[in-house]
Amino acid sequence: MTKPIIVANWKMNTLADQARRLVRRIVELSAEQHLDSVGTVVLCPPFVNISIVRSELTDTAIELGGQNCWTEPYGAYTGEVSAEMLRAVGCSYVIVGHSERRTIFGEDDEIVLRKMLRAWEASLIPIVCVGETLHQRQMHQTWDVLRRQLGNIAQHQDRSRAWVCAYEPVWAIGTGIAAEPEQIEQAHLYLRSFLDGHGCSHVPLIYGGSVNANNAAEIFAVPNVDGALVGTASLVAESFVAIIRASHDAHRTTT
Ligand code: 13P
Repeated sequence: MTKPIIVANWKMNTLADQARRLVRRIVELSAEQHLDSVGTVVLCPPFVNISIVRSELTDTAIELGGQNCWTEPYGAYTGEVSAEMLRAVGCSYVIVGHSERRTIFGEDDEIVLRKMLRAWEASLIPIVCVGETLHQRQMHQTWDVLRRQLGNIAQHQDRSRAWVCAYEPVWAIGTGIAAEPEQIEQAHLYLRSFLDGHGCSHVPLIYGGSVNANNAAEIFAVPNVDGALVGTASLVAESFVAIIRASHDAHRTTT
């Protein structure tokens, strides 16, 4: 495993006090276990809790990210938040194209591309999510879906721009049942060669979908897995830090 990147997506969870308690415990446990030195850890709280979390991250190596952004830098877009705003409150990452954005809020590949370009304009590192639904998998459309979701992104590649690709099979998100290691291996092999073939060999490829403290080591042992995008388990400090530790162990055994 290359230097791991572990991202917490808190989704629409945590009231202000809960966010403060959660980040404090994550910082405390990470320090106790000396988990500061390898790889990257990113917390993506709800927008309104970003500043609270940021104030607890002073003097730590843990980074901040937004869960979404709009395609424009400012203006009459009621209810939206721009990449520039995220940057200004201390974020260095932003998740774009999460399956919940695609399915619940109707975002298509064109919007996801525009958000990615906007994130770059604002000097943020976009974490671009791709993944097939259960129906698409059953219809043997997985590779077509992944190719389509990444197709226009690949055409806009600029090697100087950093981004992260997150494979999140929709059927494994929030179900408690992660994809099997063989399924992750096949998808990551496919995505890795797609990315490499489009000048994106520098782009880390992380897995998301029911990653937890118990299955993390097995998932990190899969070839071409460079980290994880964690939902449910990132809301419990002990579980999230155990996942970070598993990524460090996996990194150590391969270097
Ligand atoms: P779960 O870890 O709850 O399955 O969520 C995954 C996810 O959607 C992270 O973005």
